[in-house]
Amino acid sequence: MATDSATASRGQWSTRGGFILAAAGSAVGLGNIWKFPYITGENGGGLFVLIYLVCIALIGLPIMIGELIIGRRAQRSPVGAFQKLRGEQTAWRIIGWMGVLAGFIILSYYSVVAGWTMNYVLMALTRFFSGKSPEEIGSAFGTLYTAWDINLFWHAAFMLTTIGIVLGGIKKGIEAWSRILMPALFLMMLVLLVDAVLQPGFGRAASFVFSPNADKLTPQGVLEALGHSFFTLSLGMGALLTYGSYLSKDRDLVGSSALISGLDTLVALAACLILFPIIFSQGMAAEAGPGLVFKSMPIAFSKMTGGVLLSILFFVLLFFAALSSAISLLEVVASSFIDQLDWTRRRAVLVTGSMIFLFGVPSALAGSGKLFPAWEKLVGKNFFDTFDYLASNWLLPLGGLAIAIFVGWVMPDDERREEFTRGSKLGALYPVWLVSVRFVAPIAITLLWLFSVEILPKHWLAPSGPGGH
Ligand code: PHE
Repeated sequence: MATDSATASRGQWSTRGGFILAAAGSAVGLGNIWKFPYITGENGGGLFVLIYLVCIALIGLPIMIGELIIGRRAQRSPVGAFQKLRGEQTAWRIIGWMGVLAGFIILSYYSVVAGWTMNYVLMALTRFFSGKSPEEIGSAFGTLYTAWDINLFWHAAFMLTTIGIVLGGIKKGIEAWSRILMPALFLMMLVLLVDAVLQPGFGRAASFVFSPNADKLTPQGVLEALGHSFFTLSLGMGALLTYGSYLSKDRDLVGSSALISGLDTLVALAACLILFPIIFSQGMAAEAGPGLVFKSMPIAFSKMTGGVLLSILFFVLLFFAALSSAISLLEVVASSFIDQLDWTRRRAVLVTGSMIFLFGVPSALAGSGKLFPAWEKLVGKNFFDTFDYLASNWLLPLGGLAIAIFVGWVMPDDERREEFTRGSKLGALYPVWLVSVRFVAPIAITLLWLFSVEILPKHWLAPSGPGGH
């Protein structure tokens, strides 16, 4: 168990800016640039985006504040945080372990997709896409997806990079790298956005993303919007709780949360405004699914002037986004071992990082069908999709619900009020926030969850009826 000397030797962010960049780095990831545009495309755009924004504002943001409150109050990673606030044997520590499990599972498959982004950086740098036909580019993704050895190689390369950074600790590892990765990411995004505005398809893309259109939205899509709002803000598994535990007492949690979720949302919307104009200008469809980033975009780049440079920027951006999120996933798992078992950082990072790598092997081999091909027949999903489903649809919403209930109903009022208001100009919003974590968020999560396990009929959720169009 952690001792007080362990608290003293825990790392701390050096500045508020450093914390914001690291937390935004956790939030901004493949979820924003890879997943959000393609699920927006699949769900028909505008209305889905609107529902997503409502979920962020009414549920995500209040829970983010709650996670930071718990983390900073306890100065521990998730398991120890609940123990410190409620006693050694508290049942709440199960929620902490569930977060560690979620981090473990998510990073194991996240690293596989992140590995693809490294492969695509290399392809962009070697001008692989120029002069290739759409079929050739499409089949290159197929080749990558089904090649077990290439997947394993990049999965290992990505995990090693992540481990290398987290080994450096809070200030010299996570914060120092976030200070490089995040500004570079915002700059590349800006360049790509300027280019997108100049594309002929920009107007159509903007109205696709912003004008509510109920045609394609299915009940499943509404649930996807909620699940994704947790995933994209890194909520429900203690990532921000852990980052909050490295904050000093005088920092404003409310303003920081607003900034972090605002940045995350801006990046997700900007990603759509970068992808769709290019896709539409090249006469391609928005509904390409997971291949949107790895097939449609390279095809578009191969036809554009300046496409080589743009493709390099785009895939480096994607890689940076993935890396800064992966760091936070590993940090949750590693810091729990540091806090709970008194391990050194070195030992915790190396051991948990290797375990996550091994656990990710079935996901890396999912496309090749090499390992346990019967799994897909039994469960109906390959390993990769099984883990993603388990984490995004079960572990994160359940974790988020628990966190809302904990800060809303279990934590003493003076403690949470103090954390909420200290150093914040937004302290007057305390009653509004309390209503949200006590009622709005728990009720909304529970309801949507009942729909997703079909205790309530899904077709109540969307106007277009069961299954939509
Ligand atoms: N928020 C990250 C993304 O959008 C993923 C993530 C989830 C990171 C949970 C940390 C914790 O890609």
